[in-house]
Amino acid sequence: MKDTLKKLKKEFELALKNVQDLSDLENLEQRFFSRKSGEFTNIMKSLKDLSGDAKKEMGQLANTVKEELEKVFVQKKEILEKEQIAHLLEEESLDVTQVSLPVMKRGHLHPMSLIHKELEELFTSMGFMVVDGPELESDHYNFEALNIPKTHPARDGHDTFFIKDHPDWVMRTHTSPVQVRAMQKYGAPLRTVVPGRCFRNEATDASHEHTLFQMEGLIIDKEINISNLIGVMKGLLEGILKQEVKVRLRPGFFPFVEPGFEMDMQCLVCKGKGCGACKHSGWVEIIPCGLVHPHVIEAGGLDPKVYSGFAFGLGSMRLAMQRYGIEDIRHLMGGDLRFLKQF
Ligand code: DAH
Repeated sequence: MKDTLKKLKKEFELALKNVQDLSDLENLEQRFFSRKSGEFTNIMKSLKDLSGDAKKEMGQLANTVKEELEKVFVQKKEILEKEQIAHLLEEESLDVTQVSLPVMKRGHLHPMSLIHKELEELFTSMGFMVVDGPELESDHYNFEALNIPKTHPARDGHDTFFIKDHPDWVMRTHTSPVQVRAMQKYGAPLRTVVPGRCFRNEATDASHEHTLFQMEGLIIDKEINISNLIGVMKGLLEGILKQEVKVRLRPGFFPFVEPGFEMDMQCLVCKGKGCGACKHSGWVEIIPCGLVHPHVIEAGGLDPKVYSGFAFGLGSMRLAMQRYGIEDIRHLMGGDLRFLKQF
């Protein structure tokens, strides 16, 4: 063993001589001292097979050799590090005549991000989980699972961008498909909101965009009813508009809810008397919603005899327009800095 140690010491010294830079040094460290299979480590490990005096003697010798090797190793490392620093300094130059770049102003969040952030905070404070879903969606989730079969007239209002050669894929027309995805993934009970981008084949005007934002909401539990729905929706509107609001429900048809409703909010501008903002009706259409259709609960993998729920589809662009007084929806995705800088 003595000879092996001597031989190893020689080999180490020779290898150290050939080291050119820090990475060589690291390789050398690995070769001799790596915990698993370093050549020196192996010798240290084999000490345990010796017995009595031999073990003691060899142990001492091995330690002395180790200390010697470590010492030269550290010396070499210090030299190489100094060389490296000197080299870096040499490369770095300072040009005092260089004109400085203008200090860039920091950007800020887009109004849609602001409103979604606020909505997410509000919903998470009510125990909702924020989830995400794909923008490129399958026909199954976008339509079929939501009780909108191939020939259903409700598809007419959801013309979108289709993908060439992939007839079963669509750019999702609403965030509702994530209702089914969330049920499948998380089961029940469930409280979730889904902020996201949707797409429609629209001729754009002041109130229509081909790319729009929605926030879907879904609660699934036992014995969910319409008063739960009204309570949560009212809480949402008051939380976001920071004042008491009056709401009313009108029947509305959406294949994935039964019964379905349009929730209107009393116009905040005229307090219900009638004005331009509410088309002189005193009410503003704000949230389509309803009790989740049993077929949809089934598509989500749950038993509609046990579970019920409500869902809503908040048009968050419309809400942002109300909140910030934006008169044309196209400003939101127009990318015009004069508009964006106001937020
Ligand atoms: N997904 C519908 C749309 O974009 C909106 C909607 C209506 C969502 C009723 C819902 C709902 O969750 O219950 O036209």
